[in-house]
Parts: sequence; C-alpha cells; structure tokens
Amino acid sequence: MAIQDKLATGRGKFTPGYPELGTAPVSYEDSISEEFFRAERDAIFKRSWLKVGRIEQIPATGRYFTRELSGLGSIVVVRQADGSVKALHNVCAHRGNKVVWQEHPAAESAGTCRTFTCKYHGWRYGLDGKVDHITNAEQFFDLDPSALKMPELHCDVWAGFIFVNFAEHAEPLRAFLGDRFGVLDAYPFDKMTEHYGYKTRIKGNWKLSIDAVLEWYHPPYVHGRFIDPDVSKAEKMVPPIDSYHYDVWSTHMLTSVPGPPPLPPRAPGSLGPAQRDQKWIYKLFRAGLFGPDDVQDVGAPQEALNPGKIRSWGNDSYWLFPNFSVQIWARNFYITYQYWPEAVDSHSYELDIYFPKPADAAERLAQELVAASTIEFAMQDSNTVEATHQSLSTRATQQFHLSDQELLIRNFHKVIRDAVAAHTAAHD
Ligand code: FES
Ligand SMILES: [Fe+2]
Repeated sequence: MAIQDKLATGRGKFTPGYPELGTAPVSYEDSISEEFFRAERDAIFKRSWLKVGRIEQIPATGRYFTRELSGLGSIVVVRQADGSVKALHNVCAHRGNKVVWQEHPAAESAGTCRTFTCKYHGWRYGLDGKVDHITNAEQFFDLDPSALKMPELHCDVWAGFIFVNFAEHAEPLRAFLGDRFGVLDAYPFDKMTEHYGYKTRIKGNWKLSIDAVLEWYHPPYVHGRFIDPDVSKAEKMVPPIDSYHYDVWSTHMLTSVPGPPPLPPRAPGSLGPAQRDQKWIYKLFRAGLFGPDDVQDVGAPQEALNPGKIRSWGNDSYWLFPNFSVQIWARNFYITYQYWPEAVDSHSYELDIYFPKPADAAERLAQELVAASTIEFAMQDSNTVEATHQSLSTRATQQFHLSDQELLIRNFHKVIRDAVAAHTAAHD
C-alpha cells in the first residue's frame, strides 16, 4: 500500500478551526519593509524571551559564554556560585568597552573565569557583574563603586534552555510560555549531550526562513533530489496532508508530522541490504533524515509526545514565539532552530542537533549521517528563502495565497503583525 493510503486519516481541514485567521490572501510587506523591520525589533525582539543557549554550556561556577545579538547587543551569560545563571550586558562602566571577548571583538566566545577583566584599562567585574576592582581608583572623582556594574538583564532557564529578555520589565518566562509546553518539562534533554551545531547567514527576511519549515508542502519540490529525482514519484513518497497535526495557541504553535519507521534490526556482522541507489548509504549506516534506525533509549515520555496520535509519527516541532523551535524526533534526538534578524533582508540561522552519547562507532556514524542530511536539507530550504526574498522585494506582486496546510504561516505573520501594531499604537 502506498504511503498516501496508509497514513491518510480523512480528518480533513485545519484552517476552518481558526476562524480568526481567515482565508484571504496575505501581504508580505512585513518581510520587505525597512520600517516594519525597525518596528518589529522594538515591539518583539526587545521585549520577548529569547533563547540564547543550553545549560550544558555552563556546567560549573564561572563558566560563561557571550552572544552577539544583532541590533540588541552583546551579552555575557554566566554561571553563578549558587548555581543560578545571570545575563549581563557586555559593556564596561568606565568608557564602554566590550568587556569579554577573545581574538576578535565581534566573535562570540566562551570560557571559565573568576572575574571579568576589561582589556582597556583593567577594571574587573565579579561574576554577578558588579565592579570588583578599579585600577588607579584614587584618580577618579566621586566614584561610587557600589553603583558600577555590567548591567544585568532578565535571564531564566526552562527545560535546560537559557532565555534572556531585554525589556526593563518582563513578564515571567513561565507566563510567557504558558502551560502548553509542559510536555517538554519531562523530556530528557539533559541526556542528549552529543551536539552538532551549524550556523550561517541567509540573505532574506528571518520570517521567510521560518515559513519554509512551517509547512510540509514544499518537500517534493525543494528536496526532490533527496526524496526521488522524479517529482511525480517524490510527491507520492511524502505523507498525505491529512496525516499531519497542527496546533496554534496564542503566539506559540506546534506541528507534528509522520515519518518512516526504522529499518528492522539486521543480523550481527551483516551489512544489510545496501544498494547503490540514492539511499544506499542510509542502509549501510542505518540512519537517515528521520534519525538513526537503532534508537537509543533515553526514557522519553512517549505518552506525552505525538499529541495528534499520528500513525507513523516522525517529530513534534514546538514553536516558541518569536524565533525559536524545538523539534523532538520519534527516534530520540532533538533539533533546535533559531533565526536572528540582522537587517530586513538578512538573518543569522542556527541549527543545533542533539543526540544521546553514542555507545560505539556505529552509533556515532549513524548520528553524523543524520546531522549531515539535516544540514543538507536546511541548505536547500535556505536557497529558496534567498530567492523568495529577492522576488518579494520587487513588489511586482503583493497578494499571496496560503493553502489550508499553510495555516501556521498565516498565524505566524498575523501574530507578528499584531504585536507590532499593538506596540506602535501604545507608543504613538
Ligand atoms: S573601558 Fe573598561 S576599563 Fe576602561
Ligand atoms: Fe524543507
């Protein structure tokens, strides 16, 4: 039986379940307007909780990493003696030098220290950001050292993800997330410490990059050569639309999609049915885009995953407003995606893949193949984003059409537009 018949549920449509989103054509002005871009930075990025790292990056007192966040600033995230995590603006109270950097001031860095020392005139700061030593202090006038610091910004940790918020007054992270991410509280992220990171710059609006993964309409066309070079065959190999599960709540979202079951175990010492077709290497390494065939047990809470009860479940992607997603795969690994706007037509794209530690070389090779396949697919998506941005920016066409399975794109752009409109109204 073809996959299209096997997975179809006949349950039908998504968009009619969200009448507030409507079905009308949409404008992509929000992705090409300079003015909208500036408003979006103020309305959204300067006041939302933004994920900046994982707790495993700073396992002990004094461990730190810096983040260079375009348009927002440079920050230092550091583990305190009491185990808590603080985020500090990376700026010296003396004359504003960036305090923590290594070879190149624009490059992010990480390390361990007891105090941060400014490279310019040697002022030192404790891990809490308060000034700890001022060189030639007697030459200053009316200095109050207790008021001198690298200013702190809001920082909190959820499920091992470290978040910051640049707003002066921020609602608690928990309130921002709401209660629908509870399933991830119990997820064993801490057991998945084998990390593959990939980062690049994409010359297109950051939202277009997110659009590219909010639907599974494009795979036969964008990723056809990986699926089947014959598009008509590729179309039949992707699951039918009604086998997917979409959910939208407030500004956050979920997609849950099918995936192929792992290959059956093979006899010890045998290579299995490797063939010289496009997937011979998947058979040889026992892994593919959907993960390793030999799934490691990490105690994942299976009953809480796959909320749509998809018959052959592949992954759940939790979308955290505005720019972050956590994708939990049925084969016990996870991927995070993050999109940092740099300009209206440019963003930094981060893809991070986390597996349990491989027990042997075969598991290691399987993981590497999954990582390489994921990055290859991601680059194919990025290519399209650049082409889309170039065409949109001509404004030759201004009304675009979203189908039923592009529901999340409709919602995503609406919540962004709504947040910008609310902020603009409040500050005009
Ligand atoms: S700017 Fe940092 S010590 Fe002078
Ligand atoms: Fe894709």
